[in-house]
Amino acid sequence: MTSQIDHLLTENRRFAPPAAFAADAVATAALYEEAAADREAFWAHRARELHWHTPFTEVLDWSTPPFAKWFADGELNVAYNCLDRHVEAGDGDRVALLWEGEPGDSRRVTYAELTDEVKRVANVLIGLGVGHGDRVAIYLPMIPEAIAAMLAVARIGAIHSVVFGGFSADSLRTRIDDAGAKIVITADGGYRKGKVSPLKPAVDLALDGRSGAGPQETVEHVLVVRRGGNDVAWTEGRDLWWHDVVPEASAEHEAQPFPAENPLFILYTSGTTGKPKGILHTSGGYLTQAAFTNKVVHDIHPSTDIFWCTADIGWITGHSYVAYGPLANGATQVLYEGTPDTPHPGRWWEIVEKYGVTILYTAPTAIRSFMKIGRKIPRKFDLSSLRLLGSVGEPINPEAWMWYHKIIGGKTAPIVDTWWQTETGAIMVSALPGVTETKPGSAQVPLPGIAIDVVDEDGTHVGNGNGGLLVVTKPWPSMLRGIWGDPERFKETYWDKFEKQGYYFAGDGARLDDDGDVWFLGRVDDVMNVSGHRLSTTEIESALVGNEAVAEAAVVGASDETTGQAVVAFVIVKESYLAEHPIDGLGNTLRLWVGEQIGPIARPRDIYIVGELPKTRSGKIMRRLLRDVAEGREVGDTTTLADTAVMSVISAQVK
Ligand code: WT7
Repeated sequence: MTSQIDHLLTENRRFAPPAAFAADAVATAALYEEAAADREAFWAHRARELHWHTPFTEVLDWSTPPFAKWFADGELNVAYNCLDRHVEAGDGDRVALLWEGEPGDSRRVTYAELTDEVKRVANVLIGLGVGHGDRVAIYLPMIPEAIAAMLAVARIGAIHSVVFGGFSADSLRTRIDDAGAKIVITADGGYRKGKVSPLKPAVDLALDGRSGAGPQETVEHVLVVRRGGNDVAWTEGRDLWWHDVVPEASAEHEAQPFPAENPLFILYTSGTTGKPKGILHTSGGYLTQAAFTNKVVHDIHPSTDIFWCTADIGWITGHSYVAYGPLANGATQVLYEGTPDTPHPGRWWEIVEKYGVTILYTAPTAIRSFMKIGRKIPRKFDLSSLRLLGSVGEPINPEAWMWYHKIIGGKTAPIVDTWWQTETGAIMVSALPGVTETKPGSAQVPLPGIAIDVVDEDGTHVGNGNGGLLVVTKPWPSMLRGIWGDPERFKETYWDKFEKQGYYFAGDGARLDDDGDVWFLGRVDDVMNVSGHRLSTTEIESALVGNEAVAEAAVVGASDETTGQAVVAFVIVKESYLAEHPIDGLGNTLRLWVGEQIGPIARPRDIYIVGELPKTRSGKIMRRLLRDVAEGREVGDTTTLADTAVMSVISAQVK
């Protein structure tokens, strides 16, 4: 981390907005002036670009912080805004989704077709007894039905909880139980890395494997899309094939209005404890900011652009910039099912060429892995359609930024490095393309209407040239409204630290440069960022100690050239286990175990079997020292350890 910071401090390249881009850019400097003049009026103006069944008169109610209400007396339908509105405006024939399956099959879905499908799915859900406020779990691959499912749930005022298809049956079960989901929408399987990766079996395992001691089953039906063609078990009465019920359902469905603060979705994310948090987002404010940021940061010209956000719908990026933002704006976008290197390492660039993608939004970890395999691969494809590039998920190092700029962007496409979180719902800090002079490695400036600061532990502004903690100082439309079922944890996690000032604490370290631009420096808590995915050290530790072999475990995020951070685990094995089992291969067994417990993305890169862990006198594990070992550095200050010799023992064992 220190070397990365030093490196960032010497970065002084600047890129002016290209004149041709600026001439036709959606964003203008006037947006900053408008927001500065009257922040609430600014957001009201953005919100009024949506269709309101009942117009709002109130903008922000912040009378009971930290619980904000935006546009509270207004009513809208989120799906109507993403679909019917465009069809009624005469754009029904515009392509909404350019879908590409991993094996190379493809489908084009127009706005009219997607609207029709969503109406049918809405009718199916209603027929299954799903109503306003009910929870629906979605566990699907990246196929058009995934978008249709989300929008159908939104359309009837129910709440979706999308669970990333790479999560295990256990993770799925925890999320189903926490939300009390009534229906699960899944597929038999989807294509990943050249073969069918099954999904329905995980749903079966989550639902059927329930022991008598667990919470009562809330799931009444499982709606299954056929995609993988893999064999699946079937529970009569519970399970329904999508292709049996959706085409049969009526395509007549009039979208009803719901209050702006009607919950839209829950999305689980890792926190500093073992239990994932169900981040709750509502309708009017969320859609306003998702649509606005997509339009100005991604410079969406709906009738000409081909937008491609590579995120999975299992993450917030897929919610805001695959499902809601682009569809609210009536954009045409690429949806790709598979992995970047299947069946060949140029797959993404082949897709850019095939569809003439104009705007690409992806993560630094992807850019770094392309960088590693070399420019020859993207050079084989025509990438000249690309006119804007975006980055999200973790800090982008200047080297990766420059490679993205030169090799993918042909030295002309502006790059927007966008900082935000599951909790913020939409982009908060980013350059505006065509307006801002960009700096490789800095996310730069708060968007118009967004108020942030970098402060010290006391909540005092640090001033240019200094580092501190990133806070959001004023409520914003797409802010989380809470943690599902846990208002106390919501306050504690985000608001207690700067309660006096009423600031939202993001959990990120950041530095202001001499121009006041923000450079993000990574998390300051026990949250890791692996390939742009958030993982909790505690969650992986509890998975490890759940294995019969493990007595104690400590997990750290160590810097990794490709994935940003990598999971490194230090494990003490039980004497009783060692007495009866060989230790050979245990590391790998534990890696796979974590994968089964949480999901393959949580598998540790390295597992070190050690005799002891570094603890303070009060028993707290000093992860900082383990990180030194994991990153191959000299171990830092050990004076607060209960046993100061323990680190040399660990270092020796790791070698
Ligand atoms: C955490 C949020 C935002 C959608 C994807 C991740 C890190 C995100 C950036 C960026 C530096 C970034 C932060 C943040 N992060 N974008 N442009 N520069 N750091 O959402 O899983 O909720 O993770 O990702 O550490 O807190 P998430």
